[in-house]
Amino acid sequence: MHSHSKPIGIFDSGIGGLSVLRHIQRYLPGEDLLYFADSGFLPYGEKQRDFVAERTLNAARFLIEKNCKALVIACNTATAAAIHLLRIQYPETPIIGVEPGLKPAAAITKSKQVGVLATESTLKSEKFRLLRDQLALATGVRFIEQACAGLAEHIEIGQIDSGNTNLLLMRYIAPLIEQNVDTIVLGCTHYPFLSEQISNAALESGASEPIRIIDTGEPVAIHLKRKLDVAGSGALNAQAKNRPDLLAAFTTGRTELLSETFHKFLGLQPPVNQITI
Ligand code: DGL
Repeated sequence: MHSHSKPIGIFDSGIGGLSVLRHIQRYLPGEDLLYFADSGFLPYGEKQRDFVAERTLNAARFLIEKNCKALVIACNTATAAAIHLLRIQYPETPIIGVEPGLKPAAAITKSKQVGVLATESTLKSEKFRLLRDQLALATGVRFIEQACAGLAEHIEIGQIDSGNTNLLLMRYIAPLIEQNVDTIVLGCTHYPFLSEQISNAALESGASEPIRIIDTGEPVAIHLKRKLDVAGSGALNAQAKNRPDLLAAFTTGRTELLSETFHKFLGLQPPVNQITI
């Protein structure tokens, strides 16, 4: 098999990685994609780092055994816990992670107060703290962290417009607006599915103008394309195909849930397989 025709593996603790996959499909329309949701073990954000690292290594092994030529860890929590381990384990494979977009936020905030919504585990990680401290020092921006316990679980089960989800959002967003935040970083890949609700919660909390929202899905897709397009490596599949096996999904949770989510958010109906790892 030529390396360009091998699939790209995309991984998240659940459905959050679909907010990255949608951009990968747009920027890399010729690529076969395998999506792996570890929904049976979500939320990662409230689990021990070692547990998340072990699950991530398991998922990566599964995707590599499926012949993936590159891995996208479309989960901030898993990236913070395990990307260094994955790069040691698979030195030949391009591995792209995601991290909260503090840099683009610092570049556009006017009030110099930026809110960061993420899981507890991401915010506690050394990787995040280093990035935050370096940028705060270099730019004078204050990053105000908000761990969003429970939010990813609500999104996972499709509670986008529910009263409970809105209550949670108001609880997390109002204190940020009180502190003059004008830009909010979505530091968890589940949250982009709530962008509109987050903007509304900011306005309801008294924001004087629409909040700026930073989602890293698109830059991640661009970065992946650049990595595969390294001159002469032949890894990029530049042909746009239209084959039914372009996309397949695997979950450790309920297959119906992942199928419904693909359909609801992306209008796609890939085959979804239940796996135990
Ligand atoms: N989607 C994951 C992230 O980006 C977290 C969700 C979870 O807690 O499992 O951080």
